[in-house]
Amino acid sequence: MDSDIAEILFTEEEIEQKNRELATQIDHDYSDRDIVAIGILRGCMFFMADLLRLLKVNLTMDVMVVSSYDETDTVSSGEIEIQKDFSIDVKNKDVLIVEDIVDTGLTLYHVKEHLKKRGAKSVKICTMLDKPSRRNLDVVSDYNGFVIPNEFVVGYGLGYANRYRNLKYIGILKPEIYQN
Ligand code: PRP
Ligand code: MN
Repeated sequence: MDSDIAEILFTEEEIEQKNRELATQIDHDYSDRDIVAIGILRGCMFFMADLLRLLKVNLTMDVMVVSSYDETDTVSSGEIEIQKDFSIDVKNKDVLIVEDIVDTGLTLYHVKEHLKKRGAKSVKICTMLDKPSRRNLDVVSDYNGFVIPNEFVVGYGLGYANRYRNLKYIGILKPEIYQN
């Protein structure tokens, strides 16, 4: 698995430190409110687990399973598929979406609209990664860990063909892995 990685962008330690910084900001901003955290699986799984365990603010949580990419493709199809919706009531609640990466913005644009339609009082976004060079839709991450260049990154939840998600670091996938 490691031999398919061209370059490590962020180590496990750098990710941990960033999670602590994000948690401090979120605890500060939500000090007088409860959070409903909604994670967007599958990419969010490790980030969500690590970030939420650092938060001191009261929270409830749920997940959605959303897919924007074709299973083996590296380009977005232009639509998202909600494979599993969240189940808890978000009406008049302060929702924090937890997501691994904002890329074209397609996923978060639609998920945010979906939560607003369900009556959320506020919807903010927390991402580990932001790839602004590919943005098609006007989506801003309120809490973002790292801004990254236009490279195909995997690890810490991010997959290619559903592999590499369990890498502890975030790295650039060697182009020969997906160019054939
Ligand atoms: C990836 C990633 C984000 C989304 C970002 O998910 O986890 O959810 O794409 O891209 P966008 O900003 O262009 O929408 P994917 O749909 O590949 O599914 P996964 O979470 O199961 O990996
Ligand atoms: Mn995803």
